[in-house]
Amino acid sequence: MIVLGIETSCDETGVALYDSEAGLRAHALFSQVEIHAEYGGVVPEIASRDHVRKLLPLINQCLEAAGLNRSDIDGVAYTAGPGLIGALLVGTATGRSIAMGLNRPAIAVHHMEGHLLAPMLESDPPAVPFVALLVSGGHTMLVEVRAIGEYRILGETLDDAAGEAFDKTAKLLGLGYPGGPALAKLAEQGDAERFAFPLPMTKRPGLDFSFSGLKTHTRNLWLNGEQNDTTQADIAAGFQKAVVDTLVIKCRRAMQYTRAQQLVVAGGVGANLSLRQTLQQAGKKYGWKVSYPRLEFCTDNGAMIAFAGCQRLLAGQSSGPAFQAFARWPLDQLPVIETDGSQPPGRE
Ligand code: KG4
Ligand code: ZN
Repeated sequence: MIVLGIETSCDETGVALYDSEAGLRAHALFSQVEIHAEYGGVVPEIASRDHVRKLLPLINQCLEAAGLNRSDIDGVAYTAGPGLIGALLVGTATGRSIAMGLNRPAIAVHHMEGHLLAPMLESDPPAVPFVALLVSGGHTMLVEVRAIGEYRILGETLDDAAGEAFDKTAKLLGLGYPGGPALAKLAEQGDAERFAFPLPMTKRPGLDFSFSGLKTHTRNLWLNGEQNDTTQADIAAGFQKAVVDTLVIKCRRAMQYTRAQQLVVAGGVGANLSLRQTLQQAGKKYGWKVSYPRLEFCTDNGAMIAFAGCQRLLAGQSSGPAFQAFARWPLDQLPVIETDGSQPPGRE
């Protein structure tokens, strides 16, 4: 089955063609980062309008790269939430219309399900059950994945998401927007031990996260100290280490709690090399396998949506012609994909 995947939940237009037999056939991405940079954050209306401009050309580009025609598409998967409602509506309306025009099924995909299944696009895919650490600009969660579609949220952030904390700290240090990758790069040159940083919510039991205290601590260090290049790099390194150590402590707790042996890391912050290295070491020490998507599929992309949608379409699920997008959409309320051959009912 060849599935066209469409991702427009925030500031990236992502398109892909996933073939259930041959794997990923093509993918294309347009990032709006430079468009929003001058505003210091994503402007929703500008995001929606740019998705309108880029989506159809990217679909045509993918078809051409894969050597396929529109009529070769067997199903369409589009991100229907959570995200910016206007941006989501562009992908949802386009995806649903293409499916209707071709008389093929369409499926609404949950953006975070896309992220957590993204490592399955790699050559050594993780097998269920596993624990997923989802760390993006909008979410930070630990999820127990018992089967595809069967998600139990073990812990979530009570305030900022990990990526948001990276971005806000980067902005404070004058690194521009979105600053996560820039902060990570600067941290490589810094001394992470020079300043003491708190490890939020690690002393008490539980799997929830909170990053706002860490952000305030960082602000106080920067605003009340001598502002030079060395201090900037040392604060970046200390902040990154505090986030990474906190995430690793919570992952270890979640692995012990669920007795899982497989950890999956996904979402934009999953591209952070220090996080990847530290989790890899922890995996070796404690006997877990750790899987990640390739770096370009950590951040938003169409491939993860095509893959997630394909699993649901193959299981007989589909979304009807009346389309809807959801700014909020709880991950633990999705229908489970039965793997024993029985066909779960469609969504409508
Ligand atoms: O998953 P994603 O593309 O979008 C959302 O669904 O939110 O994640 C984007 C987030 C941004 O906050 C960005 O700063 C962060 O991921 N990010 C990083 C790195 N690369 C991207 N944060 C830390 N280190 C990185 N290397
Ligand atoms: Zn995302």
